[in-house]
Amino acid sequence: MTHPAAIGAKLLPLAPHGGTLVNRIASPDQRAAFLAQADTLPRVALDERALCDLITIAIGALSPLEGFMGQADYEPVVTDMRLANGLPWSIPVTLSVTAAIAEPLQPGELVRLDDPNGTFVGVLELTEKYAYDKTHEAINVYRTNEEAHPGVKAVYDQGDINLAGPIWLLERGLDPRFPTYQVDPADSRRVFAEKGWKTVVGFQTRNPIHRAHEYIIKCALEITDGLFLHPLVGVTKSDDIPADVRMRCYEIMIQNYFPQDRVILAINPCAMRYAGPREAIFHALVRKNYGCTHFIVGRDHAGVGDYYGTYDAQHIFDEFEPGELGITPLKFEHAFYCKRTEGMATSKTSPSNSDERVHLSGTKVRALLRSGQLPPPEFSRPLVAAELAKAMQVPAETQDHLAGGSV
Ligand code: ADX
Repeated sequence: MTHPAAIGAKLLPLAPHGGTLVNRIASPDQRAAFLAQADTLPRVALDERALCDLITIAIGALSPLEGFMGQADYEPVVTDMRLANGLPWSIPVTLSVTAAIAEPLQPGELVRLDDPNGTFVGVLELTEKYAYDKTHEAINVYRTNEEAHPGVKAVYDQGDINLAGPIWLLERGLDPRFPTYQVDPADSRRVFAEKGWKTVVGFQTRNPIHRAHEYIIKCALEITDGLFLHPLVGVTKSDDIPADVRMRCYEIMIQNYFPQDRVILAINPCAMRYAGPREAIFHALVRKNYGCTHFIVGRDHAGVGDYYGTYDAQHIFDEFEPGELGITPLKFEHAFYCKRTEGMATSKTSPSNSDERVHLSGTKVRALLRSGQLPPPEFSRPLVAAELAKAMQVPAETQDHLAGGSV
């Protein structure tokens, strides 16, 4: 079957993945009923990552998932990038606990889910408990079983038993860090429609915006109606630049360098997995749920260290039939500042030789900032560089997040 996204913009609004936008936010009555059982339900404490998953499932960002995956979905997702019903899905979304925590829980019962502060935030309708093979998951999803990989480490550190079943989020409060940028899938779909955008390109990012980002975004914006600038603010590894600093950089960019009426800046509450190619598919499906028709995939998308080839995250889209994903990837080569043509370019558009190309990585930028230098204007817009430098002036003991690491 050809998906509407493959046959053109006329059929917008684009259907969410699986056809229906999931909403697992408890109604006021449901919430009151759950709260009345607060002291009697068995409890499971979520870590920050599981909390991100709970929220993203509830708001429909992970449609068609209505909860944490059961084994019938988990196994084919790990091995074949498919849910049990055949729908493409590339990343397991599971709630893992220790055998000791799982042992007294009985399928059929409600489980109270607490956030890391011990606050009652959600409910799991427990349908199943199952053991799983962490190495098998790591090799298939992350293409490595090395614990040095942050996504693999997270899998190895988590419990041995997956709890599965539909969830409810008790309340969708505003993220206190970025209340004005909280735009959930139902909202973004409405806003895109109000703006009359027939095509919208989504941009995933977890780094401070630099000129290569700006270049590929603007190339995409030349052929689409609007941009959904969607930085990930869920859990990231500790040496990534903190979300508040990154958000200020995006604000600066939009205020100074973008046509403001063609851009929506919104937070993506997902946790980062660093699963490279598999995560590129996941990121695209999430943006489809937000209503995007196109999705940018550049160099080493969602990669970490040297685990993935530069364009692996682009090649993986070819493993699906055209239209099957329902969102169109826009693939970009490694962009750089070209001294010969005095602008941003890629090897597709510039005849320059390698010493005429300014490539800077996030790692190098962090090193520059650490030594008190600003990234050059070929890499960062000066206002953004100044904002990053300001963030470096925090006391030394809180600067670990800026200390090295890969892009
Ligand atoms: S991440 O989620 O992919 O890790 P990051 O902020 O590093 O986030 O990159 C955001 C997007 O920009 C990704 O699609 C990435 O492939 C792309 N990208 C980053 N730097 C470049 C570059 N120099 N050239 C082309 N694409 C790039």
